Amino acid sequence: MIVVTSPTGKIGTELVPRLLAGGARVRVIVRDPAKLSPQLLGKVDVTKGSTDDPEVVSAAFQGAEAVFLVVPFPFNVEDIVKHYLRFIRPAAEAIKLHDVKRLVFVSGLRLVTASAKGLSSLSTAIENTIVDAGSDYRALWCAGFMENLLAQIEPLKHHGTFLLAARPDVKAPLVATRDIAATAAKLLLDSSWRGRDGLAVMGPEDLSYDDMAEIMSEVLGKPIRFQQVSDDSFRARFVESGGSEAVAQWLVEMRADSERNPHGSIQRSAENTTRTSFREWCEEVLKPAVQG
Ligand SMILES: NC(=O)c1ccc[n+]([C@@H]2O[C@H](COP(=O)([O-])OP(=O)(O)OC[C@H]3O[C@@H](n4cnc5c(N)ncnc54)[C@H](OP(=O)(O)O)[C@@H]3O)[C@@H](O)[C@H]2O)c1
Repeated sequence: MIVVTSPTGKIGTELVPRLLAGGARVRVIVRDPAKLSPQLLGKVDVTKGSTDDPEVVSAAFQGAEAVFLVVPFPFNVEDIVKHYLRFIRPAAEAIKLHDVKRLVFVSGLRLVTASAKGLSSLSTAIENTIVDAGSDYRALWCAGFMENLLAQIEPLKHHGTFLLAARPDVKAPLVATRDIAATAAKLLLDSSWRGRDGLAVMGPEDLSYDDMAEIMSEVLGKPIRFQQVSDDSFRARFVESGGSEAVAQWLVEMRADSERNPHGSIQRSAENTTRTSFREWCEEVLKPAVQG
Protein backbone atom coordinates (compact mmCIF):
# COMPACT_ATOMS: atom_id res chain seq x y z
CA MET A 1 0.00 0.00 0.00
CA ILE A 2 1.26 3.48 -0.92
CA VAL A 3 -0.25 6.48 0.90
CA VAL A 4 -0.52 9.79 -0.98
CA THR A 5 -1.15 13.07 0.84
CA SER A 6 -2.64 15.96 -1.19
CA PRO A 7 -4.12 13.79 -4.01
CA THR A 8 -6.05 16.87 -5.23
CA GLY A 9 -2.89 19.00 -5.56
CA LYS A 10 -0.94 19.62 -8.75
CA ILE A 11 1.58 16.82 -8.13
CA GLY A 12 -0.86 14.43 -6.41
CA THR A 13 -3.39 14.60 -9.27
CA GLU A 14 -0.71 13.41 -11.68
CA LEU A 15 0.84 10.93 -9.26
CA VAL A 16 -2.09 8.73 -8.22
CA PRO A 17 -2.96 7.47 -11.76
CA ARG A 18 0.73 6.67 -12.34
CA LEU A 19 0.87 4.59 -9.15
CA LEU A 20 -2.32 2.72 -10.08
CA ALA A 21 -0.98 2.08 -13.60
CA GLY A 22 2.16 0.67 -11.95
CA GLY A 23 0.03 -1.89 -10.10
CA ALA A 24 0.16 -0.32 -6.61
CA ARG A 25 -2.62 -0.25 -4.07
CA VAL A 26 -3.12 3.40 -3.15
CA ARG A 27 -4.65 5.13 -0.15
CA VAL A 28 -5.20 8.90 -0.24
CA ILE A 29 -5.73 11.36 2.59
CA VAL A 30 -8.15 14.06 1.50
CA ARG A 31 -10.16 16.70 3.35
CA ASP A 32 -13.05 16.63 0.89
CA PRO A 33 -13.38 13.33 -1.02
CA ALA A 34 -15.81 15.00 -3.48
CA LYS A 35 -12.77 16.86 -4.89
CA LEU A 36 -11.11 13.60 -6.01
CA SER A 37 -11.16 12.89 -9.72
CA PRO A 38 -14.22 10.68 -10.53
CA GLN A 39 -11.85 8.30 -12.38
CA LEU A 40 -10.30 7.36 -9.03
CA LEU A 41 -13.55 6.34 -7.36
CA GLY A 42 -13.47 2.70 -6.32
CA LYS A 43 -9.79 2.45 -7.29
CA VAL A 44 -8.21 4.04 -4.19
CA ASP A 45 -8.77 3.71 -0.45
CA VAL A 46 -9.87 7.04 0.99
CA THR A 47 -9.03 8.41 4.46
CA LYS A 48 -10.98 11.59 5.03
CA GLY A 49 -9.31 14.31 7.08
CA SER A 50 -6.49 16.77 7.46
CA THR A 51 -2.83 15.79 7.20
CA ASP A 52 -2.00 17.80 10.34
CA ASP A 53 -4.31 15.56 12.41
CA PRO A 54 -2.24 12.80 14.12
CA GLU A 55 -5.23 10.41 14.36
CA VAL A 56 -6.09 10.75 10.68
CA VAL A 57 -2.47 10.30 9.61
CA SER A 58 -1.92 7.32 11.90
CA ALA A 59 -5.06 5.57 10.61
CA ALA A 60 -4.00 6.20 7.01
CA PHE A 61 -0.40 4.97 7.44
CA GLN A 62 -1.44 1.63 8.96
CA GLY A 63 -0.23 -1.14 6.63
CA ALA A 64 1.62 1.29 4.32
CA GLU A 65 4.98 0.39 2.80
CA ALA A 66 5.59 3.83 1.34
CA VAL A 67 4.28 7.36 1.79
CA PHE A 68 4.27 10.41 -0.47
CA LEU A 69 4.22 13.55 1.66
CA VAL A 70 3.43 17.11 0.62
CA VAL A 71 3.26 19.89 3.19
CA PRO A 72 0.72 22.46 1.96
CA PHE A 73 2.46 25.70 1.10
CA PRO A 74 2.21 28.20 4.01
CA PHE A 75 0.05 31.22 3.20
CA ASN A 76 -1.26 33.12 6.21
CA VAL A 77 0.93 31.77 9.04
CA GLU A 78 3.24 33.74 11.33
CA ASP A 79 5.80 30.98 11.97
CA ILE A 80 6.93 29.04 8.90
CA VAL A 81 8.94 26.37 10.75
CA LYS A 82 5.92 25.71 13.00
CA HIS A 83 3.70 25.36 9.92
CA TYR A 84 5.97 22.69 8.36
CA LEU A 85 6.34 20.81 11.63
CA ARG A 86 2.55 20.83 12.13
CA PHE A 87 2.36 18.48 9.11
CA ILE A 88 5.70 16.67 9.30
CA ARG A 89 5.51 15.64 12.98
CA PRO A 90 2.28 13.59 12.70
CA ALA A 91 3.70 11.94 9.55
CA ALA A 92 7.00 11.12 11.28
CA GLU A 93 5.22 9.67 14.33
CA ALA A 94 2.95 7.51 12.17
CA ILE A 95 5.91 6.30 10.08
CA LYS A 96 7.65 5.19 13.27
CA LEU A 97 4.52 3.61 14.77
CA HIS A 98 3.57 1.62 11.66
CA ASP A 99 7.12 0.86 10.51
CA VAL A 100 6.64 2.47 7.08
CA LYS A 101 9.68 1.56 5.00
CA ARG A 102 9.99 4.40 2.49
CA LEU A 103 9.10 8.08 2.40
CA VAL A 104 9.22 10.41 -0.60
CA PHE A 105 8.60 14.04 0.26
CA VAL A 106 8.41 17.26 -1.69
CA SER A 107 11.00 19.86 -0.86
CA GLY A 108 12.65 22.69 -2.79
CA LEU A 109 16.01 23.41 -4.42
CA ARG A 110 16.33 26.33 -1.99
CA LEU A 111 16.31 23.97 1.00
CA VAL A 112 19.43 22.12 -0.18
CA THR A 113 21.80 25.05 0.24
CA ALA A 114 19.61 26.76 2.84
CA SER A 115 21.63 29.93 2.36
CA ALA A 116 18.78 32.44 2.76
CA LYS A 117 17.91 33.83 6.15
CA GLY A 118 15.20 31.62 7.66
CA LEU A 119 15.78 28.68 5.30
CA SER A 120 18.58 27.16 7.32
CA SER A 121 16.47 26.67 10.47
CA LEU A 122 13.58 25.33 8.38
CA SER A 123 15.80 22.88 6.55
CA THR A 124 17.33 21.60 9.81
CA ALA A 125 13.94 21.27 11.54
CA ILE A 126 12.48 19.27 8.63
CA GLU A 127 15.49 17.02 8.30
CA ASN A 128 15.76 16.28 12.05
CA THR A 129 12.08 15.37 12.27
CA ILE A 130 12.21 13.14 9.21
CA VAL A 131 15.44 11.40 10.21
CA ASP A 132 13.84 10.67 13.59
CA ALA A 133 10.98 8.85 11.81
CA GLY A 134 13.49 6.11 10.96
CA SER A 135 12.38 5.16 7.43
CA ASP A 136 14.48 5.33 4.29
CA TYR A 137 13.65 8.52 2.40
CA ARG A 138 14.19 10.63 -0.68
CA ALA A 139 13.56 14.38 -0.58
CA LEU A 140 12.54 15.73 -3.98
CA TRP A 141 14.40 19.05 -4.23
CA CYS A 142 12.11 20.63 -6.79
CA ALA A 143 12.87 23.69 -8.89
CA GLY A 144 10.10 26.31 -9.25
CA PHE A 145 6.97 24.91 -10.92
CA MET A 146 5.92 25.94 -14.45
CA GLU A 147 2.36 25.76 -13.06
CA ASN A 148 3.05 28.88 -10.94
CA LEU A 149 2.44 30.78 -14.20
CA LEU A 150 -1.19 29.62 -14.23
CA ALA A 151 -1.79 32.36 -11.64
CA GLN A 152 -1.06 34.80 -14.50
CA ILE A 153 -3.86 33.76 -16.85
CA GLU A 154 -5.85 37.00 -16.49
CA PRO A 155 -2.99 39.45 -17.29
CA LEU A 156 -1.81 37.12 -20.07
CA LYS A 157 -5.28 36.95 -21.58
CA HIS A 158 -6.24 40.62 -21.28
CA HIS A 159 -2.95 42.58 -21.32
CA GLY A 160 -0.36 40.25 -22.89
CA THR A 161 1.80 40.52 -19.76
CA PHE A 162 2.81 38.51 -16.73
CA LEU A 163 4.02 40.17 -13.55
CA LEU A 164 6.35 38.88 -10.87
CA ALA A 165 8.73 40.32 -8.29
CA ALA A 166 11.67 38.72 -10.08
CA ARG A 167 14.50 39.79 -12.36
CA PRO A 168 13.76 39.34 -16.08
CA ASP A 169 17.22 38.01 -16.96
CA VAL A 170 18.03 35.27 -14.40
CA LYS A 171 17.88 31.79 -15.93
CA ALA A 172 16.36 29.03 -13.80
CA PRO A 173 15.32 25.39 -14.40
CA LEU A 174 11.49 25.57 -13.98
CA VAL A 175 9.91 22.11 -13.91
CA ALA A 176 6.47 20.76 -14.92
CA THR A 177 4.57 19.17 -12.02
CA ARG A 178 3.75 16.09 -14.11
CA ASP A 179 7.51 15.41 -14.27
CA ILE A 180 7.77 15.69 -10.48
CA ALA A 181 4.93 13.17 -10.27
CA ALA A 182 6.78 10.85 -12.68
CA THR A 183 9.94 11.03 -10.53
CA ALA A 184 7.92 10.40 -7.36
CA ALA A 185 6.06 7.44 -8.95
CA LYS A 186 9.32 5.82 -10.02
CA LEU A 187 10.69 6.02 -6.47
CA LEU A 188 7.45 4.94 -4.78
CA LEU A 189 7.02 1.90 -7.07
CA ASP A 190 10.63 0.79 -6.57
CA SER A 191 11.24 -1.03 -3.29
CA SER A 192 14.96 -1.56 -3.91
CA TRP A 193 16.43 1.80 -2.82
CA ARG A 194 17.69 2.40 0.70
CA GLY A 195 19.15 5.22 2.78
CA ARG A 196 18.35 8.87 3.37
CA ASP A 197 19.02 11.20 0.51
CA GLY A 198 17.56 13.73 -1.89
CA LEU A 199 17.17 14.08 -5.62
CA ALA A 200 16.88 17.39 -7.46
CA VAL A 201 14.02 17.67 -9.96
CA MET A 202 14.77 20.31 -12.59
CA GLY A 203 13.25 21.13 -15.97
CA PRO A 204 15.33 20.40 -19.09
CA GLU A 205 16.52 23.99 -19.73
CA ASP A 206 17.43 27.13 -17.82
CA LEU A 207 15.23 30.02 -18.93
CA SER A 208 14.78 33.63 -17.81
CA TYR A 209 11.37 35.28 -17.64
CA ASP A 210 12.31 37.23 -20.78
CA ASP A 211 13.10 33.90 -22.53
CA MET A 212 9.74 32.55 -21.35
CA ALA A 213 7.91 35.64 -22.67
CA GLU A 214 9.44 34.98 -26.10
CA ILE A 215 8.32 31.32 -26.08
CA MET A 216 4.84 32.27 -24.81
CA SER A 217 4.54 34.87 -27.63
CA GLU A 218 5.29 32.19 -30.23
CA VAL A 219 2.96 29.58 -28.72
CA LEU A 220 0.07 31.97 -27.95
CA GLY A 221 0.47 33.79 -31.29
CA LYS A 222 0.52 37.27 -29.69
CA PRO A 223 3.20 39.45 -28.07
CA ILE A 224 3.75 38.65 -24.38
CA ARG A 225 5.88 40.84 -22.14
CA PHE A 226 7.34 40.10 -18.70
CA GLN A 227 6.91 42.91 -16.18
CA GLN A 228 9.02 43.05 -13.00
CA VAL A 229 7.21 44.42 -9.96
CA SER A 230 8.94 45.65 -6.81
CA ASP A 231 9.27 43.56 -3.64
CA ASP A 232 7.16 46.17 -1.81
CA SER A 233 4.34 45.91 -4.30
CA PHE A 234 4.53 42.07 -4.16
CA ARG A 235 4.32 42.15 -0.32
CA ALA A 236 1.36 44.54 -0.39
CA ARG A 237 -0.58 42.40 -2.92
CA PHE A 238 0.22 39.17 -1.04
CA VAL A 239 -1.08 40.60 2.25
CA GLU A 240 -4.13 42.12 0.51
CA SER A 241 -5.01 38.66 -0.80
CA GLY A 242 -4.96 37.20 2.74
CA GLY A 243 -1.33 36.08 3.16
CA SER A 244 0.77 37.01 6.18
CA GLU A 245 3.62 39.54 6.26
CA ALA A 246 5.89 36.74 7.50
CA VAL A 247 5.24 34.50 4.47
CA ALA A 248 5.49 37.48 2.08
CA GLN A 249 8.92 38.32 3.50
CA TRP A 250 10.00 34.65 3.36
CA LEU A 251 9.03 34.47 -0.33
CA VAL A 252 10.99 37.66 -1.08
CA GLU A 253 14.07 36.15 0.62
CA MET A 254 13.71 32.82 -1.19
CA ARG A 255 13.41 34.59 -4.53
CA ALA A 256 16.53 36.67 -3.83
CA ASP A 257 18.37 33.47 -2.87
CA SER A 258 17.26 31.73 -6.06
CA GLU A 259 18.45 34.69 -8.16
CA ARG A 260 21.90 34.50 -6.55
CA ASN A 261 22.09 30.77 -7.11
CA PRO A 262 19.37 29.32 -9.40
CA HIS A 263 20.52 25.67 -9.07
CA GLY A 264 21.15 25.74 -5.32
CA SER A 265 24.24 23.59 -4.81
CA ILE A 266 23.12 21.03 -7.40
CA GLN A 267 24.97 20.03 -10.55
CA ARG A 268 22.73 19.16 -13.50
CA SER A 269 22.78 15.47 -14.46
CA ALA A 270 20.69 13.09 -16.58
CA GLU A 271 19.13 11.80 -13.35
CA ASN A 272 17.87 15.17 -12.09
CA THR A 273 16.80 16.62 -15.47
CA THR A 274 13.18 16.05 -16.49
CA ARG A 275 11.52 15.80 -19.92
CA THR A 276 8.88 18.48 -20.43
CA SER A 277 10.27 21.62 -22.08
CA PHE A 278 8.72 25.01 -21.35
CA ARG A 279 7.51 25.21 -24.98
CA GLU A 280 5.72 21.82 -24.69
CA TRP A 281 4.19 22.89 -21.38
CA CYS A 282 2.96 26.14 -22.95
CA GLU A 283 1.40 24.24 -25.85
CA GLU A 284 -0.24 21.57 -23.70
CA VAL A 285 -1.17 23.44 -20.50
CA LEU A 286 -0.81 27.23 -20.77
CA LYS A 287 -2.37 27.75 -24.21
CA PRO A 288 -5.63 25.87 -23.44
CA ALA A 289 -5.86 27.74 -20.10
CA VAL A 290 -5.36 31.17 -21.73
CA GLN A 291 -7.75 30.38 -24.58
CA GLY A 292 -10.36 28.66 -22.40
N1 LIG B 1 5.34 26.09 -6.42
C1 LIG B 1 6.64 25.93 -6.49
O1 LIG B 1 7.33 26.54 -7.31
C2 LIG B 1 7.31 24.93 -5.55
C3 LIG B 1 8.67 24.66 -5.69
C4 LIG B 1 9.28 23.71 -4.85
C5 LIG B 1 8.51 23.06 -3.90
N2 LIG B 1 7.17 23.35 -3.79
C6 LIG B 1 6.38 22.63 -2.79
O2 LIG B 1 5.36 21.89 -3.44
C7 LIG B 1 4.32 21.65 -2.49
C8 LIG B 1 2.96 21.90 -3.14
O3 LIG B 1 2.69 20.83 -4.02
P1 LIG B 1 1.47 20.94 -5.05
O4 LIG B 1 1.71 22.19 -5.89
O5 LIG B 1 1.31 19.64 -5.72
O6 LIG B 1 0.26 21.21 -4.09
P2 LIG B 1 -0.96 22.18 -4.37
O7 LIG B 1 -1.40 22.07 -5.80
O8 LIG B 1 -0.60 23.53 -3.83
O9 LIG B 1 -2.09 21.54 -3.51
C9 LIG B 1 -2.06 21.56 -2.12
C10 LIG B 1 -2.70 20.28 -1.68
O10 LIG B 1 -2.63 20.20 -0.26
C11 LIG B 1 -3.92 19.82 0.21
N3 LIG B 1 -4.08 20.32 1.55
C12 LIG B 1 -3.98 21.60 1.99
N4 LIG B 1 -4.16 21.66 3.31
C13 LIG B 1 -4.42 20.37 3.73
C14 LIG B 1 -4.69 19.78 4.97
N5 LIG B 1 -4.73 20.51 6.10
N6 LIG B 1 -4.91 18.44 5.01
C15 LIG B 1 -4.87 17.70 3.88
N7 LIG B 1 -4.59 18.20 2.67
C16 LIG B 1 -4.37 19.53 2.59
C17 LIG B 1 -4.90 20.43 -0.77
O11 LIG B 1 -6.10 19.73 -0.67
P3 LIG B 1 -7.55 20.38 -0.76
O12 LIG B 1 -8.08 19.85 -2.06
O13 LIG B 1 -8.25 19.84 0.43
O14 LIG B 1 -7.40 21.88 -0.72
C18 LIG B 1 -4.15 20.15 -2.08
O15 LIG B 1 -4.34 18.83 -2.50
C19 LIG B 1 4.56 22.57 -1.30
O16 LIG B 1 5.13 21.80 -0.24
C20 LIG B 1 5.61 23.54 -1.84
O17 LIG B 1 6.44 24.04 -0.82
C21 LIG B 1 6.56 24.26 -4.60
